[in-house]
Amino acid sequence: MTAPLLEPTEENITRAVDVLRGGGLVAIPTETVYGLACDAANPEAVARLYEAKGRPSFNPLIAHVSRLQMALGEGQFGAGAKALADAGWPGPLTLVVPLAQTHSVCDLARAGLGSIALRQPAHPVAARLLEAFGKPLVAPSANPSGKISPTQAEHVAADMGTRVDLILDGGPCEIGLESTILSCLEETPVVLRHGAFDASEFTAGLQDEAQPLAPGGLSGHYAPNATLRLNVAEPISGDAYLGFGPVEGPQGRISLNLSPAGDLVEAAANLFSMLRQLDRSYARIAVAPIPMTGLGLAINDRLARAAKRD
Ligand code: TXA
Ligand code: MG
Repeated sequence: MTAPLLEPTEENITRAVDVLRGGGLVAIPTETVYGLACDAANPEAVARLYEAKGRPSFNPLIAHVSRLQMALGEGQFGAGAKALADAGWPGPLTLVVPLAQTHSVCDLARAGLGSIALRQPAHPVAARLLEAFGKPLVAPSANPSGKISPTQAEHVAADMGTRVDLILDGGPCEIGLESTILSCLEETPVVLRHGAFDASEFTAGLQDEAQPLAPGGLSGHYAPNATLRLNVAEPISGDAYLGFGPVEGPQGRISLNLSPAGDLVEAAANLFSMLRQLDRSYARIAVAPIPMTGLGLAINDRLARAAKRD
């Protein structure tokens, strides 16, 4: 059975809440990517979610909240974390903080860690659903483990349609890249993942491949089936060419352009869906150089992971 793909009407939000209360899985739009949501306090639902994603191990999940108050019940926010939440929420920012004694998010969802990752999404459909549900929802990106993250409801239907109970269609994701993750466990925040929240003022956490701080930070994520070559100014014949910027390129060589105007925000929003599109028809994809500034950091990070075979 394929999950119904539903418009986010009041009636369908209520239907989604019922599914979640029953321990089911609901794919939801957020401003970053589509998430696969379940009740964060229900270990059976979380186990089902890991199974649906085909996660090799139980990576810790992000708990999504509808307001700061809900987050304060789950994690301990020092002055620094509180200031970051004020600056970045609701929005594409995930904060890792020490677990609060009053937490409801189950051990399995946190992979048994004494810390918790929290995010208040800005997408109105995610916000309405969280408010109606009244408790945190864990939601990894709604793709099979290691595959390209979904930025449209149709992506979820194609990859996960038979493994979820319901898909809420909120249109294409505005940002198109997963949230910035900042760890607030030490004196100063550490960047675990780049995203649309500008974290350039903070230092990057060491990503030890064997013991990653953000396990989803392992290389080999977001992998298309096609081989990917990066920073390619001149594609060779037979390559699909994913362009960036106003360059015309050799006639007919640009297959798709992340942003003809050279706009990194537009490029981020297009990245995953264009990779998917090219992956359907080509065995080799060459990608134009993307500047290492602003959102370019996050885009290059995702591309490097997608290009790496492990
Ligand atoms: O934009 C997003 O963040 C999307 C949308 C759906 O909200 N979600 C998402 O979730 O990207 P996921 O599961 O694909 O990535 C969660 C990341 C992983 O790298 C995980 O290891 C890290 O968060 N994480 C979760 N809890 C953590 C913790 N306590 N300490 C360090 N990293 C943690
Ligand atoms: Mg993911």
